[in-house]
Amino acid sequence: MKQLLSLAALSCALVATTAPAQAAPAAQARLDLGQDAAGPAIEPAVYGHFVEHLGAGVYGGLWVGPESAIPNTRGWRNDVVQALRQVGIPVMRWPGGCFADDYDWRDGIGDPAKRPVRVNRWWGGTESNRVGTHEFMDLVEQLGSEAYLAGNMGSMPPRALSQWLEYMTADGASTLAEERRRNGREQPWKVKYVGVGNESWGCGGNMRGEYQSDLHNRYATFLNQVVRVASGDGEGNDQLVDVLMARSGKHMDALTLHYYTIPGDWSAKGAATGFDATAWARTLKSAMGIEGRIAAVSRIMDKHDPQRRIGLYVDEWGSWYDTPPGAPALHQQNSLRDALIAALSFNVFHRHTDRVRMTNIAQMVNVLQAMVLTDGPSMVLTPTYHAFDLYRPFRGAAPLRVALKTPHFRIGDVELPSVDVSAARTPDGQLVLALVNLDPKQPAQVATGLKRAARGRLLTASAIDAHNTFAQPRAVVPVPVDAKPGKDGLTLQLPPASLLVVTLAPAP
Ligand code: AHR
Repeated sequence: MKQLLSLAALSCALVATTAPAQAAPAAQARLDLGQDAAGPAIEPAVYGHFVEHLGAGVYGGLWVGPESAIPNTRGWRNDVVQALRQVGIPVMRWPGGCFADDYDWRDGIGDPAKRPVRVNRWWGGTESNRVGTHEFMDLVEQLGSEAYLAGNMGSMPPRALSQWLEYMTADGASTLAEERRRNGREQPWKVKYVGVGNESWGCGGNMRGEYQSDLHNRYATFLNQVVRVASGDGEGNDQLVDVLMARSGKHMDALTLHYYTIPGDWSAKGAATGFDATAWARTLKSAMGIEGRIAAVSRIMDKHDPQRRIGLYVDEWGSWYDTPPGAPALHQQNSLRDALIAALSFNVFHRHTDRVRMTNIAQMVNVLQAMVLTDGPSMVLTPTYHAFDLYRPFRGAAPLRVALKTPHFRIGDVELPSVDVSAARTPDGQLVLALVNLDPKQPAQVATGLKRAARGRLLTASAIDAHNTFAQPRAVVPVPVDAKPGKDGLTLQLPPASLLVVTLAPAP
């Protein structure tokens, strides 16, 4: 763990002015903003989530059951729901992941005491099916979210998927609607998105692209009035994207991309905390690689869909570290580094709004790059939660063109830009800027030339692996920042390893 900045330097950063605040010389960056939108508005669904039946992602983390001593509403824990409501959950993908292609929706309806217990093939242990369709849709409604069902194409017939949708959304005399009513839900639910399989090249059935596209077309034929999401690439396989777009483009409204940030490789991914500056740099480099993947997939999509009707949904993204021994499946701590991974990813998504219309971080609670960690009745918000919170003004805003001149730094064999940025105009005319200082050692100054004051929040800490624990839940929390323009305009001060999000009032 490296000490990053003195308290004195941090307090200067909080009142950013034109004068350099830190003792160490700051990297000098220059940001020029364009007036024109760089692409369509940032869809709120770009800040979406993914919830899978694995580890403590559902049971314990979100669902404790109506009889639990942990305060809950119809089984969903109140502390977690309240935290998630506060940050805003526009859309939730459920029930997998790999779990989705082994899931029979009929296991999760009706009397909970009579629901079958199944082996959780992918993630270990058993699935009680205590949380099924009615419970999930209750959570969707408690959070004011949209439902994104991940449908089973790998091991169930198309009729199972179309009947699940009919059960949920039909009104009138349909026998499936009657069954839903008997199970306690009178009104149909609204289901906006349906995924047709998940990672069909792997855990979703190990299919060839050609075979998958035939299957996709067949399943999608029986889905009405939903956004039909085809399972896409997660392995850097351009040919798969090409085949799916060529053969199934007509039968999809979106194609998915999965991208995980890993400091090492799949056999030794690396630790969530206790890492050094080299691992920091490798991890951020890996996170930035999402841009090349989105660009490559977009180019292939453009070839088949020049009008850009079909969205690219990055419906699994985030950091993936080694799970500590004895911890629930895919459980990991979440540090300041993860907040920067989230910020760099958001900046990339903002640069590609012409295609990227939804993303879903993996995963919402207690799994991989989580927003919230729980242990029994305790809950803690992660640095990633705070990154989502800082970026709230970007939802629905128009991304702006930027020209950024930034120095680069090198750690070992990794070279990175010191600063990364995103800028957007909110619907009420405010300018919002997100600035990331990737350098774990050197502060940065970003000159904007703007003659306006800025107000916002800064997320940083005194160690690069700083994280929140149940004992110290406020080790990494945002602090307020006010910055006034000097004679050369507004210059923003970024401590090492930091994220700053500010809004600027409209020019008079
Ligand atoms: O998010 C964990 C797993 O990663 C998902 O189940 C799967 O789709 C991906 O490989």
